[in-house]
Amino acid sequence: MDQVHLRMFLSSISVISLICAASGAIQDSVEISWGGDRAQLGENGELLTLTLDQSSGSGFQSKDEYLFAEVSIRLKLVSGNSAGTVTAFYLSSIGDAHNEIDFEFLGNVSGSPYTVHTNVFDQGKGNREQQFYLWFDPTQDFHTYTILWNKKNIIFLVDGLAIRVFKNNEAKGIGYPDDQAMRVYSSLWNAEDWATQGGRVKTDWSKAPFSAYYRDYNASACVASAGTSSCSSGSVSWMDRELSLHEVSKMKELRKTYMVYNYCDDKNRFGQNMPAECRLA
Ligand SMILES: *[C@@H]1O[C@H](CO)[C@@H](O)[C@H](O)[C@H]1NC(C)=O
Ligand SMILES: *[C@@H]1O[C@H](CO)[C@@H](O)[C@H](O)[C@H]1NC(C)=O
Repeated sequence: MDQVHLRMFLSSISVISLICAASGAIQDSVEISWGGDRAQLGENGELLTLTLDQSSGSGFQSKDEYLFAEVSIRLKLVSGNSAGTVTAFYLSSIGDAHNEIDFEFLGNVSGSPYTVHTNVFDQGKGNREQQFYLWFDPTQDFHTYTILWNKKNIIFLVDGLAIRVFKNNEAKGIGYPDDQAMRVYSSLWNAEDWATQGGRVKTDWSKAPFSAYYRDYNASACVASAGTSSCSSGSVSWMDRELSLHEVSKMKELRKTYMVYNYCDDKNRFGQNMPAECRLA
C-alpha cells in the first residue's frame, strides 16, 4: 500500500484519535453482534459468554474501529469435548480486499490439545497460517491473548509471551495490513467440516451447548472515527514496540516446542512459489 492510498484512506475516515488503554468492563468496549441470547453479558458487564448450539453460534465486535492497536482479552475456551468448535478472536476490515489478523482456537476431543491457528491477510489474501499447541490447558482458566499491530510489525502473544511476529516488509514488496481500519471480532461457531483432525472428527452435539468465556478487554489504539482530530499523546509504547532480543529467543524456544504448522515450511503446498516473506527469515 503506497502513501497516496494511505493518505486518501486517512482523509476518508477523516480522523484518528488515540485512546490509551481502554479497559474496564468488557461491555464498555464491545457489543454483541449476532447469536441472539446465545451471547450473554453477566457480572455487571464484566463477563461475556458466547455459546454454540445445534442451531448456531454467536459473536461480538468492538465498538471502535482501529488503525493500529494492541488488543488483549482474557479467554477461557470451551471445555470437554470441543471437537468441531472454533473460537475466533481477530481484527478485520471489510470488503473483498480486506485485511485481517487472526487468532482461532480449534477445539478437540477431550484430552487432546487445542490448536491455536494464526493468519495474516492483506488485500484479501491470507495463506500465512501458523499453528501452535499451548503449554497449558486453555479450558481450565482464563488466559490472555494479545494482538499487537503497529506500523513495524504484528505480534501474537499468549500470556504476554510472543509466539509469532509478522514484520512489515512493504519496502521489499511484501504486503502488510496498514491501509484499512479494523475492528475486533470474536465468535464461537461450528466448523466440524475441517477444524478437528482435518474434519475427520465431528462435533458431538449431545455435549451442546458449548460455551467460551471472555473478560478484561483492553485496547491501546488509534481509533478511526469521524469527529475527533489526530492521535493524542499518552503512553504509546505499543506503537513502536518490537520484540527485544530476549523476547525473540524466548519465542524461538516456544516455537521449537509448540509450533505444529508453519506455511513457510510447506513446500508441498507452495512448491516454487514460496511466499516472499518466507525467504527473508
Ligand atoms: C487490562 O488493563 C488493566 C489495567 O491496565 C490491567 O490490570 C489488566 O491486567 C489488563 N488486562 C489484560 C487482559 O491485558
Ligand atoms: C487434536 O488432537 C490430535 C491428536 O490427538 C492432533 O493431531 C490435532 O492436531 C489436534 N487438533 C485439531 C484441531 O485437530
